[in-house]
Amino acid sequence: MADLPSLLASCHLQCLPHTPSAQAGAKALAALYQTLLKSSVSKVVYRLVDQDRRCIGFASGTLDRYTTQRGVLRQLPPGLLLSLLLRNLLQPTHLLAQWRWRHCIPQAGSGYILTIGTDPTFIGDKKIAGRMLLAELEAFFRERDCQQVWVDTESSNRRAIDFYLKNLYTIVREDHGHALLSKILV
Ligand SMILES: CC(C)(COP(=O)(O)OP(=O)(O)OC[C@H]1O[C@@H](n2cnc3c(N)ncnc32)[C@H](O)[C@@H]1OP(=O)(O)O)[C@@H](O)C(=O)NCCC(=O)NCCS
Repeated sequence: MADLPSLLASCHLQCLPHTPSAQAGAKALAALYQTLLKSSVSKVVYRLVDQDRRCIGFASGTLDRYTTQRGVLRQLPPGLLLSLLLRNLLQPTHLLAQWRWRHCIPQAGSGYILTIGTDPTFIGDKKIAGRMLLAELEAFFRERDCQQVWVDTESSNRRAIDFYLKNLYTIVREDHGHALLSKILV
């Protein structure tokens, strides 16, 4: 049976195949989730089905985006690190948007959602609602005294933006084809 980081990686690939991290491949994603699962400042929520051989939904977030990003990069073998850096350079819009937002997001007292996805091939009883995964992450942030939660997504991802708006997030900024959204946690 595949290990948990690999199950999360294949669900991520299924849900978000076009992001630079997904295009760096399943091994890079598995390294990402392995780091997030081990980190005390991060949280990964997920649902497994079919006797735990398949992940049908996941979400991850962090209390400290910079520490988490550094931790993930340190875990990557040199070949994968190079591949991820190259992909980000070829498709730099996310990095450019994050640079623009660097002063908007407080370093402490807020949570950042890194990834979220539900496997579209599962329907009916086995479907996991994205809002349940989101609520679990928000609960994690609340328990750690965060007053606010942040997330970003491509502006073209209308389904994700509508999902966040429906869950009481507001768009704070849009730059380089990416939207930054936030919600005050009460
Ligand atoms: C964004 C995303 C996580 C939202 O998840 P979601 O499950 O679609 O969102 P919701 O929880 O709002 O559910 C959507 C609909 O499915 C329905 N639904 C949810 N769980 C269900 C279940 N178990 N059975 C039947 N219907 C269900 C909901 O009722 C809802 O319908 P409504 O809009 O009429 O209320 C999901 O669309 C996704 O994985 N997208 C691709 C990855 C992505 O873009 N991620 C965001 C990047 S930041």
